[in-house]
Amino acid sequence: MALFKQVALLGLGLFAPSGSHAKAYNNPILPGWNSDPSCTFVKELDATFFCTTSSFLAFPGVPVYASKDLVNWKLASNALTRPEQLPELSFNGQQSEGIWASTVRYHEGVLYLITSYVTWSPWGPKILLFRTTDPFNDDAWEGPLRVENPGNDIDLDLFWDRNGKTYMSVAAGIYISEVDLSTGAAKAPIKVWNGTGDRNPEGPHIYDKDGFYYLLIGEGGTETNHTATIARSKSLQGPYEGYDGNPILTAKNTDEYFQTVGHADLFQDASGNWWAVALATRSGPDWEIYPMGRESVLVPVKWEKGEWPVLDMVRGKMSGPLPERNRNVPGNGHWNRLLSRIKSAEASGLLAPAQVESLFAVSPKGHPNTLRISPSRVNLTADASFEPKKDGLGFVFRKQSSTIFAYSVDVLFDPTEPDEEAGITIFLTFRVEASGKLGEEVPKERTLTIPKAWLGKPIRLIARASSGSSYVLSAALASASKEEKVLGHASASIVSGGSGPFTGTVLGAYTTSNGGNGKTPAFFSRWRYTPLAQEIADGEPIPLGKRNA
Ligand SMILES: *[C@@H]1O[C@H](CO)[C@@H](O)[C@H](O)[C@H]1NC(C)=O
Ligand SMILES: *[C@@H]1O[C@H](CO)[C@@H](O)[C@H](O)[C@H]1NC(C)=O
Ligand SMILES: *[C@@H]1O[C@H](CO)[C@@H](O)[C@H](O)[C@H]1NC(C)=O
Repeated sequence: MALFKQVALLGLGLFAPSGSHAKAYNNPILPGWNSDPSCTFVKELDATFFCTTSSFLAFPGVPVYASKDLVNWKLASNALTRPEQLPELSFNGQQSEGIWASTVRYHEGVLYLITSYVTWSPWGPKILLFRTTDPFNDDAWEGPLRVENPGNDIDLDLFWDRNGKTYMSVAAGIYISEVDLSTGAAKAPIKVWNGTGDRNPEGPHIYDKDGFYYLLIGEGGTETNHTATIARSKSLQGPYEGYDGNPILTAKNTDEYFQTVGHADLFQDASGNWWAVALATRSGPDWEIYPMGRESVLVPVKWEKGEWPVLDMVRGKMSGPLPERNRNVPGNGHWNRLLSRIKSAEASGLLAPAQVESLFAVSPKGHPNTLRISPSRVNLTADASFEPKKDGLGFVFRKQSSTIFAYSVDVLFDPTEPDEEAGITIFLTFRVEASGKLGEEVPKERTLTIPKAWLGKPIRLIARASSGSSYVLSAALASASKEEKVLGHASASIVSGGSGPFTGTVLGAYTTSNGGNGKTPAFFSRWRYTPLAQEIADGEPIPLGKRNA
């Protein structure tokens, strides 16, 4: 839902032993729900790499991550943090709607982000252009400028040609049109490539190298047939000649642990090395258990003069000519590999957007260091009459970003009306409730009476993944947290794909009246997400080492 705040992000241990030229690192580089990555290197902004991924209906949205070494990534800012930037975001009902595949590029002192906002009804994606000179400051993002969409499609790319003109390319079948970035006017699009013949030619990016225009796209759909293919031409408008009919990157028809590989982008580092990012799913060919959905991976690229680029296969253990380890990245955002610990009092990032501000309060009177969530009328399943903008949703969340983790939050809640509810959730999609994914066995609802000694005191609610394939939910009196009561187990396949095919699992806290008259708020505190291990190959979780920020 558009009304959510994403609380934090990422939690992956990556290592980059220094010394040799080729250094080891692990995929994914942006673990957890981070699809359709686009990245660029900006020498002028203190030699920093910037990436963006798709945020769908999450708010704030359009995240920008920054790194100096391609391994340690920090959330630099979100381009979309003010509800008035995109009021439509809160009109939606379906989680696959919202912000799709963006492109990030730097040109003459400005960092640009072009993206599309998608709703199913009425169909007609809107093109949004954000720009900033300070990507480490949410408030510095200008826009979005609404750009004409003559191709009426998605997956925008921005390209500045040798002739000084600016072009955007767009799916499906690839079109290019000249665009005026000051007015948003776009000229009639020219179809330049159909791809190699697979379905869904999309996600275009254009590069100017050695006298050729290279056009990199995704094909095959974003599932296990996904690929990255490439073509080139001496003229931007074509005709484009495809590279020998084969993808330059894919896991299609392989036994690789990283599947669905495609939707790539290419960029160069300060030493001139080429790199590719792409989306991938840690599922193995069975493609059954992948609660973190589509994540961002990095591979080294060899791209000789006048030749086609050659990309390494996506694996958990990689090696490449990484820059020196460097965590000197500004801003207060979360790092990808560390524990995220939020004391509600300091977490202004948890506040909800203006239209539902009444549901949330940080450290309200009498409850210091808590986040108050008042009940929304609907629960997380919602109902047919749900109006996100009006009703709001009493829910805050973060992405699951490590295979094995512990998440917990303390709640003080004293319900008085029938059906009042507060709790935590491991959540994938608004359309599946206890019925789960089709054909999936979902645990029966289980109710435990709260022990008398717990009444009126904060209760710790805990969700853990102690393997990559299942979760455990438990509770304890916060002041005696060693005495946990296990409430239930659930398979991670319930939150893998199904009716939430584009997003990934999130963890969060909610309060609802379940459609009743309840008004009792819940007070949440001591929010902890501890990443413990990351599976980088089938059955191969690597511990994440140091836990503290
Ligand atoms: C794409 O395919 C259509 C239908 O086969 C064809 O008419 C068109 O010329 C092709 N476009 C390009 C740029 O190859
Ligand atoms: C992949 O392609 C094959 C062959 O066209 C098709 O049978 C299969 O259903 C596709 N799989 C997916 C997940 O789209
Ligand atoms: C959600 O609320 C509706 C009423 O609005 C109720 O019928 C449904 O049972 C609730 N779902 C859960 C999982 O509590």
